[in-house]
Amino acid sequence: MSKGSRLPGFHKAKIAERLRRLAEAIECDEEDLAGLAESASLPLANADAMIENAVGVLGLPVGIALNFVIDGEELVIPMAVEEPSVVAACSLAAKLARAGGGFTTESDEPRMIGQVQITGLAEPEAACATLLANQAQILEAANALHPQMRARGGGARGLEARIVEVPEDVAGNSYQRQVILHLLVDTQDAMGANLVNTMCEGVAPLCEKLTGGKVRLRILSNLADQRLSRARVRIPIDALADFGLTGEEVARGIADASRFADADPYRACTHNKGVMNGVDAAAIATGNDWRAIEAGAHAWAAHSGRYLPLSRWWVDGGALHGFIELPLQLGTVGGAVKANPLVPTLLKLMGNPSARKLAGVLASVGLAQNLAALRALGTVGIQRGHMALHARNLAVTAGARGVAVDEVARRLVASGEIKLHRAQEIFAKLRDQQAVA
Ligand code: MEV
Repeated sequence: MSKGSRLPGFHKAKIAERLRRLAEAIECDEEDLAGLAESASLPLANADAMIENAVGVLGLPVGIALNFVIDGEELVIPMAVEEPSVVAACSLAAKLARAGGGFTTESDEPRMIGQVQITGLAEPEAACATLLANQAQILEAANALHPQMRARGGGARGLEARIVEVPEDVAGNSYQRQVILHLLVDTQDAMGANLVNTMCEGVAPLCEKLTGGKVRLRILSNLADQRLSRARVRIPIDALADFGLTGEEVARGIADASRFADADPYRACTHNKGVMNGVDAAAIATGNDWRAIEAGAHAWAAHSGRYLPLSRWWVDGGALHGFIELPLQLGTVGGAVKANPLVPTLLKLMGNPSARKLAGVLASVGLAQNLAALRALGTVGIQRGHMALHARNLAVTAGARGVAVDEVARRLVASGEIKLHRAQEIFAKLRDQQAVA
């Protein structure tokens, strides 16, 4: 929770000034944020301990998405991303959402699914029944492996037993009916992969004893469909007027773009890419496993049997309405979150949320990011905004710094040729002019 997430003029301020204002907004000491401005935020020694064969650290810009109000709270949201338009677009959409009171969210309990694959069963239905009849014993065995989690109110809570039909393969291996045991684990504020995997491996011998089958894979599922998060927004039509268009025209453009995604998986895929631009950037900044989130989100998008958009927009009762639902298996504690010393600082910016609260925040970020994309696509097109930001990047690459960046970018856009060699020419000319002056 921050005092306020509006911070007008933030994008024009120098980085030191931004950090000062950020500290003021979240009411912390400026020194607490000092680490953010250091270029090598992940020490090489940490990197070496994190992965095999480490030889360096690859940096990503961290920006702050502003203007968010989520469940009535003002919130600034860190995003780590290389794509120029993402943070600006997200902040803009969050500003539009304020006109309707911001985002409201709800997230399921942090319940992950661990899979235990049981093969070689003569009677899979009977094996399912036996496993379910022995639920208490299996859960006790799982929880004995992690008593601290149980003490914190989490742990293995339930079982599901499914029969999966494995077809004959090209090598002639025969059709099989296997039993897949789902261990349902409340992981509290952890993402839970390690915990769930340990439990799956731990209960495997008991599953074999109870069923007489052979256990093969024991691993969590990233289709975390018992850990869904939802965000909603309602924006009065008038607040959407822009580009010389009425609010009604802009809202219709957004709603029509959403219907296109509903109707066509080729479009739904790119629509969802836009959603994940926001979700992933916030996931990376908070030390989360964005590959797990990506895998879960796209599997969820296809859970009906057809690949569909994760979010939808429609016009009703004088307002544009947006809704998103997706699995968000996030952690705010645990080794991966702490491995990068910057992550605790970035979590602090958001008031150290629980994993469940963070899931609502990321769902809102995904919805905001999607709104920004559809607003541009459904009206003037995406390139106008993208090119302006691209021009700024080229200005920096050409050597411009400070106020010269905006001037070179402005002249570059006006030239109609947004290329590096033009940026170099324009910057050289600007330098000459300034030297003469
Ligand atoms: C680009 O990174 C994301 C968009 O393609 C998303 C969309 O088309 O909805 C603009």
